Amino acid sequence: MGAKPRVDTSRPHPARVYDYLLGGKDHYEVDRELGERIPEFMRLAAHENRAFMRRATTWTANNGVTQFLDIGTGIPTAPNLHQVAQGVHPAARVVYADNDPIIMRHAEALLVGTPEGATEYIEADIREPQVIIEQAREHLDFEQPITLSLIAIMHFIVDAHDPYGVVRALVDALPRGSYLALTHVCLDGFAEEGEKLNKTYTSAIEAQSRSRTEIERFFDGLEQVEPGLVATPLWRKDAPVQPGAEHHPNYAGVAVKR
Ligand SMILES: C[S@@+](CC[C@H](N)C(=O)[O-])C[C@H]1O[C@@H](n2cnc3c(N)ncnc32)[C@H](O)[C@@H]1O
Repeated sequence: MGAKPRVDTSRPHPARVYDYLLGGKDHYEVDRELGERIPEFMRLAAHENRAFMRRATTWTANNGVTQFLDIGTGIPTAPNLHQVAQGVHPAARVVYADNDPIIMRHAEALLVGTPEGATEYIEADIREPQVIIEQAREHLDFEQPITLSLIAIMHFIVDAHDPYGVVRALVDALPRGSYLALTHVCLDGFAEEGEKLNKTYTSAIEAQSRSRTEIERFFDGLEQVEPGLVATPLWRKDAPVQPGAEHHPNYAGVAVKR
């Protein structure tokens, strides 16, 4: 697998802080220290993102999608997206992409899929969508529907890096019948916690919360499937949700390209 990727342990990194929040083991002191200072609701949001990934992947797979492009994969956390997709279609093809070299160290875990399916890993930056599309074309058939998963990644793309242009470029490359599954931090109604998050997380890691209206713009030109863009725990929930679950700092939606 070539030279070992360089991992900067002097500064916290989103994938490793997220791993800490999910109770994983692949993070350093600097990540743990930040994870302990950010509002507790981000831990819940991390678990809800994973649960949404499972529901959205299962739902689009049940709607006939057999190809998946997951950008901002994160450190493997079972079940990973390919396990969910190949649980529905053993021959499903999954391409993962992330820009954190630590994920490359785990690529072997990500690359173990079903014998009849395929899982591939690309180290790439979403801010260069054409590079990702070009490499994904080597493994996915862009004439057949693809689910593009952008789960908890777009808040790391601040306005200066043209987040809407990035998503448009990716969606433009997809054929009709494809889906966009996206979640995003939304601090509407969380003024106090938002301030704490800014003082801790966002001062260490470049990131930007967006309003529900701003998140909706990522789906421009696509048709939201039911129930639309909602608080993440509410998207096609498969278990009873806690009272007040709609007051959640993360939104989720799945939309189809007609
Ligand atoms: C919060 S984690 C989400 C992981 C996974 N999607 C999930 O929901 O469980 C965000 C991931 O996005 C990746 N990421 C952040 N900025 C990125 C960029 N510019 N290009 C590619 N990946 C990026 C991070 O390395 C991290 O693995």
